[in-house]
Amino acid sequence: MEKKGIADLVPMKKLYDGGTIPAIGMGTFGSDHYTPSQVAEAVRGGIRAGYRLFDCAACYGNEDQLGQVFEEAIQEGIVKREELFITTKVWNDMHGKGDVLLSCAKSLRDLRLDYVDLFFVHWPFPNYHAPFCDGGSRNPDSRPFSVEEFMGTWRQCERLVDMGLVRYIGMSNMTIPKLEAVLPLCQIRPAAIEMELHPCFQQPELFDYCVSRGIQPIGYCPMGSPSRPERDKAEGDCSDMEMPEVVKIAEAHRIHPALVCLKWAAQRGQIPIPFSVKEPQYTGNLKCVTEDPLTEEEMEQMKKADRNNRLIKGQVFLWEGARGWEDLWDMDGTITK
Ligand SMILES: NC(=O)c1ccc[n+]([C@@H]2O[C@H](COP(=O)([O-])OP(=O)(O)OC[C@H]3O[C@@H](n4cnc5c(N)ncnc54)[C@H](OP(=O)(O)O)[C@@H]3O)[C@@H](O)[C@H]2O)c1
Repeated sequence: MEKKGIADLVPMKKLYDGGTIPAIGMGTFGSDHYTPSQVAEAVRGGIRAGYRLFDCAACYGNEDQLGQVFEEAIQEGIVKREELFITTKVWNDMHGKGDVLLSCAKSLRDLRLDYVDLFFVHWPFPNYHAPFCDGGSRNPDSRPFSVEEFMGTWRQCERLVDMGLVRYIGMSNMTIPKLEAVLPLCQIRPAAIEMELHPCFQQPELFDYCVSRGIQPIGYCPMGSPSRPERDKAEGDCSDMEMPEVVKIAEAHRIHPALVCLKWAAQRGQIPIPFSVKEPQYTGNLKCVTEDPLTEEEMEQMKKADRNNRLIKGQVFLWEGARGWEDLWDMDGTITK
């Protein structure tokens, strides 16, 4: 019998139309710390290790380097294009009329692909911040969420599906009030919503909202993003890998706490997209969802460990007159204006 590689063992999840997506992927945001070539090397190794889902974005500034890796891997017969599931995202400065198409065209050219599998609206407003900016940076053109503006962006995403340039479209950094406003207006529904999800920030309401509507949650910062940009570090932030509940389960399984975060994520039902440029770390991150699952009791302990501690607060996207980062997340159940 042919020996199975890790890629064959990774569970697949079903999207709303029956199409499939791997239950874990690799993140590609170098977080202002890792260079495009370091991330590209990790993707090269990741494909060989068995990753098939790669979470890319125009604003990560490395799609050109990743594209070379995807092209080589396909040409060398290491993987077939249809076995890969590549996502990318339109950045906030490309929401205007016609710009989404241009952004997608550039990503396709850089990634050296004919189509992407899932195309996200990275943030639900056109508020732009420069790469490497600090936490106090504000853009005077920033403005609150607008249903009309968002739908203008979404219509362009729908057009990309019609044109065959993307298979699925998705949203990222959404809230329930924003989804309530836009979902009824979508001609093509989002297949997935990318959101911050890790043990100390489980977003149970948003998670359940998506699952109950057949929208796949994709969890970013699955291990609490210890290397996130300085602008996203705040006093009092929880460190997932040091949470006593996580450490205790890690000890019981004799694994690193990072792997507890990933096992929990995959078993709960979100798709974690861990980032690592280190080996054997990234292979371990992938492999852990194929073996030695957490028990029901451990899953229950993890559920109770939630601290509602958002790490990516997004304050750099605030508009003039906003009170604080909480305004981005519609904390009182209505869209903050
Ligand atoms: N849609 C959005 O707005 C959005 C926002 C943020 C992120 N994302 C996506 O989500 C991906 C993942 O998020 P993230 O990179 O911020 O956070 P993360 O995956 O939670 O954390 C990555 C960091 O964790 C450490 N790590 C990884 N594997 C480990 C292991 N096995 N043991 C110990 N430490 C380990 C590494 O730190 P060291 O480098 O220090 O070793 C690595 O840089 C991103 O790459 C990006 O694709 C999307």
